[in-house]
Amino acid sequence: MRRALIIDMKENWENLQKLTPALLLWYDAHKRALPWRETVTPYRTWVSEIMLQQTRVSAVIPYFTRFMDELPTVGTLAEVPEERLFKLWEGLGYYSRARNLQKAAKILVCEYGGALPDTAAELVKLPGIGHYTAAAIASISFAQPLAAVDGNLLRVAARVSGCGEDIMDAKVRRLFQEKLDAVIDRARPGAYNQAMMDLGATVCLPNGAPLCAQCPARSFCEAYRQGLTELLPVRGAKKQRRAEERTVFLIKRGDTLAVRQRPDTGLLARLTEFPNVGGNLDASGAEITLAQWGLTAKRIVPAGTAKHVFTHIEWQMKGYFAEVEGDNGAFRWVTRAELDALAFPTAFKAYTEKAKKLF
Ligand code: ADE
Repeated sequence: MRRALIIDMKENWENLQKLTPALLLWYDAHKRALPWRETVTPYRTWVSEIMLQQTRVSAVIPYFTRFMDELPTVGTLAEVPEERLFKLWEGLGYYSRARNLQKAAKILVCEYGGALPDTAAELVKLPGIGHYTAAAIASISFAQPLAAVDGNLLRVAARVSGCGEDIMDAKVRRLFQEKLDAVIDRARPGAYNQAMMDLGATVCLPNGAPLCAQCPARSFCEAYRQGLTELLPVRGAKKQRRAEERTVFLIKRGDTLAVRQRPDTGLLARLTEFPNVGGNLDASGAEITLAQWGLTAKRIVPAGTAKHVFTHIEWQMKGYFAEVEGDNGAFRWVTRAELDALAFPTAFKAYTEKAKKLF
């Protein structure tokens, strides 16, 4: 197999075998108390793993608890109105995760008797479940011996084995999957994966700050032995994000504010937003846009700038408050109470806060 060798060092794969027993001993003494670990069911594991994609553990905890209180079963998730689901998700971001959760819940109710399938091969067929998540659920809830290879596992494994290849490379990830599947604890695969996550999150920290003195792998870790923890893992260059300018309107008419629903597909599909257009408009451009929407501006005032970073795009936003007359049939005019009940994407957070002050 040809792979890009970034740091010229010899891997020591046997170290991963040594890690397994040391890691589990460490986990039994140091594991984090997390709500999805208190009672383990396939449903709770699934929801927690989806929430934990792209979101820190500490941020997920209150969302997870609230979600389980309100939607304790696959059936309740399948039936909850989308707007309420989005409200429970508000602030977590990446709403396609919530949409896919519900889509999958409906499939589970219709085709699987409301239960999750018990193998990664079946789980991965469901919307929103990729290889990592399938392996996490299958190992934690069904004791299937599959490594859940995410950034934490890759960092720990690259350092312990001394692998200097680019962990962003799909071929290298497949290699780690193979190596870790071979050494995973077959009696406790869920504990193994979660131990790797905890070690990665609390000891084998990224960005050159690992706490090697506390690490159960210190006596055999290749990166530690060679003083290379700062250099490993190697991550190839990330793709550049595209910058997109937008102008956001907080449009007040009497006691109501204009909102609208985003299109059914694409970025932030079907979520509520403040009317906005491409480009960073000046005040006269803003007035023309309002007129094109059929609204007459009585007053237009700048509402500040804000930035939001998505995976592939960065929105550079400029806002305006406008007091208007007229109607265009395209906007929904909401009261303060209605505004509070809606789920707004985090991308608009700066403007949502300003909008609430307009009432
Ligand atoms: N990150 C992803 N899954 C996790 C889990 N089960 N425990 C802790 N951190 C995680």
